[in-house]
Amino acid sequence: MIIIKNKQEIEGIRKACTLAARCLEELEKHLFIGQNTEQLDKIAFDYMMANKAIPATLNYNGFPKSLCTSINNVVCHGIPSEKDILKDGDIINVDVTVILDGYFGDTSKTFIIGEVPEDVRLFVDRAERAMYKGINVLRPGILLNQMGKAIETYVKKFGYSVVEAYGGHGVGIKFHEDPHVCNFYSKTNKILLKEGMIFTVEPMINKSKNYNVETSEIDGWTVRTVDNSLSAQFEHTVLITKNSVEILTV
Ligand code: MF3
Ligand code: CO
Ligand code: CO
Repeated sequence: MIIIKNKQEIEGIRKACTLAARCLEELEKHLFIGQNTEQLDKIAFDYMMANKAIPATLNYNGFPKSLCTSINNVVCHGIPSEKDILKDGDIINVDVTVILDGYFGDTSKTFIIGEVPEDVRLFVDRAERAMYKGINVLRPGILLNQMGKAIETYVKKFGYSVVEAYGGHGVGIKFHEDPHVCNFYSKTNKILLKEGMIFTVEPMINKSKNYNVETSEIDGWTVRTVDNSLSAQFEHTVLITKNSVEILTV
């Protein structure tokens, strides 16, 4: 069941989303060669605590940390660790979800560490652009699968692919609500968009044509590309408004 959010809920979710975006901005200042992702996790935890918020991922279905940190061929759900030390040429997605006054806000970005080859820089840029290509088609009255279509059409031009095994989700009152949001063209993801819906747009883009992923049997969380190609992701929480769409995680 898709929850249509009322004015009061929207205000609460907006605050949570703003805080998640601020937390991500704070984390960006601490990304450098030699940094480890456990340290980033601590910074995020402290930042949320200082702002009277709770990390939504901590203990969520047993996830052990306050952030997801997904490096290079890791698609999503990377677990922060002292052993993961950022090196020159890495790309890292940092995914922040906060709970503030009971409301959820969810956002992520992929950052470049040091210097990367031109093709990697373009890849990360286009992964971000892909998210906006999707967001820009959203408005009441259209079917949700038009968003995935816009994303997939855009990234395929470059020989990239959209991960199908994971997608966006309704968010706000709970972490993961209906609907499931496909970031690729799905014939079945035909949800009619209405004012007051809030969900995430979070395409995971693989640099190769192979969109297949596998989950680590060791930790049960870390999702990697099967062909070890790079994967990049950007995520915003958005609100369907009367005539358009508004990005809440700004
Ligand atoms: N923040 C992720 C998302 O965008 C979900 C992480 S769930 C976790 O939906 F358990 F891996 F933390
Ligand atoms: Co999300
Ligand atoms: Co997220």
